[in-house]
Amino acid sequence: MADRYAVIGNPVAHSQSPWIHAEFARACGHDLEYTRLEAPLDGFARVVDEFRAAGGKGLNVTLPFKQQAYRYCAHISERAAAAEAVNTLVLDDAVSGDNTDGVGLVRDLSSNLGLALAGRRVLLLGAGGAAQGVAGALLAAGIARLVIANRTVGKAQALAQRFTGAAARGYAALAGERFDLVVNATSAGLHGEAPALPAGVLTQHCMAYDMVYGRDTPFLAAARAAGARACDGLGMLVEQAAESFFVWRGVRPQTAPVLGRLRAR
Ligand code: ATR
Repeated sequence: MADRYAVIGNPVAHSQSPWIHAEFARACGHDLEYTRLEAPLDGFARVVDEFRAAGGKGLNVTLPFKQQAYRYCAHISERAAAAEAVNTLVLDDAVSGDNTDGVGLVRDLSSNLGLALAGRRVLLLGAGGAAQGVAGALLAAGIARLVIANRTVGKAQALAQRFTGAAARGYAALAGERFDLVVNATSAGLHGEAPALPAGVLTQHCMAYDMVYGRDTPFLAAARAAGARACDGLGMLVEQAAESFFVWRGVRPQTAPVLGRLRAR
């Protein structure tokens, strides 16, 4: 029988992960099955228990269960500990949790988009789970400066305190600061809104990256209008999936062909 994997979330019907992992498995010659599991909001642990009991080997975890997955694990990787969230479960006798979101973002920026991160000044927008998942990986990539800005400043301060070398701001206090990269990790785009950045933060000299994919967000539109290079999060989706595939299967699939086909879909 093929090894079984799935993505667990709520909602999960529109997840592209089954398609991406089927492409990786085909390219690597692995026989595996990868499906979607929609857990009730109060039923994460029960659904994972059942999947394990049925022989499931691994799960990707998406919203809103990444923090619950973190608490479910017996063992936690260093990068999951930094994120306080798990997006990849390895189901063995004991359950291990990892987080591939941060490395997924860094690989998309550096490999797919050609942005050398060393020495860059980076602005991270948002202080929720999405921002928390990538702050450590950005710092580990050798950036010169990380500023975390959030509508609720206290949340940015709490997040920045956990990472050496990170500073916190409210949006208005960003006026006059210059960045090479602005990463939108807020959920504003999902509501058709953009973080209220002062004029001059997005410029033709910076890259603007929205971790949201599959829609043109007001943040990306504002970035283009300011002359910035605007990039969505589809590459991060593929790169975090490739790292999860590596965690489970010990093989690193090529991502560029899969990203190209996903964009064309
Ligand atoms: P996630 O886990 O996806 O990051 P979250 O923990 O609910 O979700 O965090 C959502 C983030 O998007 C927060 O940083 C939130 O800002 P606040 O902490 O001030 O609420 C941010 N956000 C959501 N809608 C926003 C908007 N319209 N403008 C600016 N920031 C917004």
